[in-house]
Amino acid sequence: QKVDTFDLVIFGGTGDLALRKLLPALFHRYVDGQIPAGSRIIGVAREPLDDAGYRAQLSESLAGNGADPAKVDTFLQQVFYRPLDARKDEGWDAFAALIGEQPEHIRVFYLSTSPELFEDICRRLGQYGLNGGHSRVVLEKPIGRDLASANRINDAVGKVFAESQTYRIDHYLGKETVQNLLALRFGNALFEPLWNASHIDHVQITVAETLGLGRRAGYYDRAGALRDMVQNHLLQLLCMVAMEPPASLTPDAVRDEKLKVLRSLKRIDESNASQLTVRGQYRAGVAEGQSVPGYPDELNGTKSDTETFVALKAEIENWRWAGVPFYLRTGKRLPERVSEIVVAFKPVPHSIFDASAGPLAQNRLVLRLQPDEGVKLWLTIKDPGPGGLRLRHVPLDMSFAEAFGVAQPDAYERLLLDVVRGNPTLFMRRDEVEAAWRWADPILAAWAASGEAPRPYASGSWGPSASVALIERDGRTWHEDS
Ligand code: BG6
Repeated sequence: QKVDTFDLVIFGGTGDLALRKLLPALFHRYVDGQIPAGSRIIGVAREPLDDAGYRAQLSESLAGNGADPAKVDTFLQQVFYRPLDARKDEGWDAFAALIGEQPEHIRVFYLSTSPELFEDICRRLGQYGLNGGHSRVVLEKPIGRDLASANRINDAVGKVFAESQTYRIDHYLGKETVQNLLALRFGNALFEPLWNASHIDHVQITVAETLGLGRRAGYYDRAGALRDMVQNHLLQLLCMVAMEPPASLTPDAVRDEKLKVLRSLKRIDESNASQLTVRGQYRAGVAEGQSVPGYPDELNGTKSDTETFVALKAEIENWRWAGVPFYLRTGKRLPERVSEIVVAFKPVPHSIFDASAGPLAQNRLVLRLQPDEGVKLWLTIKDPGPGGLRLRHVPLDMSFAEAFGVAQPDAYERLLLDVVRGNPTLFMRRDEVEAAWRWADPILAAWAASGEAPRPYASGSWGPSASVALIERDGRTWHEDS
């Protein structure tokens, strides 16, 4: 699909996200011929670098990913840098002049900074008249740290950019398998008749990471797993599983349906948070074969009650999903990096098999988001061979890598170009963000009111044992894909 010539400005251009994700994603699009000649990528941050200094930094991080050096060199000719402090006047005239050199370009301002700076940056962009019709602003999550701060930020951005120019990114929506969920659910006649409380027993959504805090203590310790992952990524996945069929794939048709799901989430507050949620914080242990320090050690012993793990039982109070639990869990320093959605179906109503056939297991549809993207449908079959009728549970297994033999593009590749094309379908609308905070706020308040510290868990384990108890109390278990 054709992309118009654009200027993409990354505020926070020397940050972790820019270097690890955004620029590599743009580079891959460049290699695929998707960055039109004349387009400019402009990094902006406080560091006093020039174009050459910035390019040298990028060249190093791209080369570290095994990129072809010749292609990196030509790509970097389209990359520029301007030092700028959002809170100071200096530098803005020159920045505006640079952008003004190409009045015809689509303009994308990607705010990959702390949300506290969003207001200042947008005000300046407005002052310099850089918010015209072909300008777009991209806001990184989490937007604020609760509903009130999200509203303040959205109001401030809204003074400068219309909602139709505002792209609230949740990169999980750009992952191939998440989009594939739309194709699976709405492109096959097979699933939709079963996709409800009459046939689905429960849903699990797991986003497990092996990484710890890394260089992000300043941000993460103020956020924690509920704000960093659940309020956005996991809830968005839940919406994609649970929403009603939209009338079309137009941006508002999809987002209207997701919003209804968010608004139907059962409230979790002081009255029930201790039964429905578990929070944890990692301690020293072994991750990917290496001894790693605990979260408190990484904060140099500063006491912190920030959770690095959350498991919870969510419910959607509507006709389709009444009584179907959605178990969500996410954490850092878990044994493996894996993200998956498991839809567990109800058992057959009556078994015709003898006890000697072995137990009947649930049908499960497993959507593996990463690392090895794929779809598995666990079925019961007869164990082959003459030894009588014994049942066996095996998956119909579709691995994207095997089926298509191509590497899946990174989520940011798709989403960045969607912004340039002006397609907000896979971005969060303001009311979605608000509804998600309306659900998360009482959980955060309940945790604060309880005064309880998160439960410790060893790095390399699956989190506190209470998270196992959370699901086992209901007679269910976390899915193990084997
Ligand atoms: C980010 C979170 O949004 O998502 C990080 O801020 C997390 O804490 C990351 O590590 C996970 O993304 P992915 O694509 O690696 O699963």
